[in-house]
Amino acid sequence: MHITVLTLFPDMLSGPLSGSLLLKARQNGLLSIDLVQLRDFAANRYGQVDDRPYGGGPGMVIRADVVAHALNHVLAGRPGHVVYVSPQGRQLTQSDGQRLAGLDHLVLLCGHYEGIDERVVAARVDEEISIGDFVLTGGEIPALVIIDMLARWLPGVVGDSASVEGDSFSAGSGGILDYPHYTRPAQWQGVSPPAVLLSGHHQAIASWRRRQSLLRTLIRRPDLLTDAPLSRPERSLLTLLAQSLDEMVPDEIE
Ligand SMILES: C[S@@+](CC[C@H](N)C(=O)[O-])C[C@H]1O[C@@H](n2cnc3c(N)ncnc32)[C@H](O)[C@@H]1O
Repeated sequence: MHITVLTLFPDMLSGPLSGSLLLKARQNGLLSIDLVQLRDFAANRYGQVDDRPYGGGPGMVIRADVVAHALNHVLAGRPGHVVYVSPQGRQLTQSDGQRLAGLDHLVLLCGHYEGIDERVVAARVDEEISIGDFVLTGGEIPALVIIDMLARWLPGVVGDSASVEGDSFSAGSGGILDYPHYTRPAQWQGVSPPAVLLSGHHQAIASWRRRQSLLRTLIRRPDLLTDAPLSRPERSLLTLLAQSLDEMVPDEIE
């Protein structure tokens, strides 16, 4: 897969792209990434890429002609899916990672200042994606978030694909939260891992983990349970757990 990032601040991306699994993915040819400086497509010889907003108001707006010129360049010979990272886009989810990882060429367009002239967004962008309901200074960190999460879905990037499929929010886990994890030492500050995990009984471990996932999701993110594809026994278990939790709350708190 190839990713092109159109940005005014490529240095903000180069460090994080040169570590851990992203570096390995690039070295192993599973992922190639081009950081393209938008200023190279400036409107004039002074390197101008932005201008004051029509209608007045604070800040600067990145020019439509500069972005269009850059897109023509990066898409020539390799068509791609253009994503503008924007707080006004649809919020990123785990399933977007799997979908975007299936593309041949993803172009991530990073805004800055007040954003990008709406005309080029309307004419050339396939999709707007937000990483959350807050505003950052620019699209570079959102672009990194998207690259990192989709890279986990590229075959070969994460050693054991079951780990990605079983992660919180993934379809493999039914879209609910992951179970708690434990490792050595067997005693830490006087606390041992749950005995079932040391039992070597695979079926008992799997069913303990599933119950823990359900319990955590019920406590922390009950919204995820509404559409989760749960079996009838799992739904009954959740009803029982919810009742027990309710009974644990003292009456005076109600
Ligand atoms: C300061 S923001 C512009 C915010 C814009 N004036 C608004 O209120 O919607 C500059 C750039 O940062 C990026 N950005 C900021 N917050 C983001 C978020 N939550 N998700 C994705 N991109 C974001 C976008 O590329 C945006 O064009």
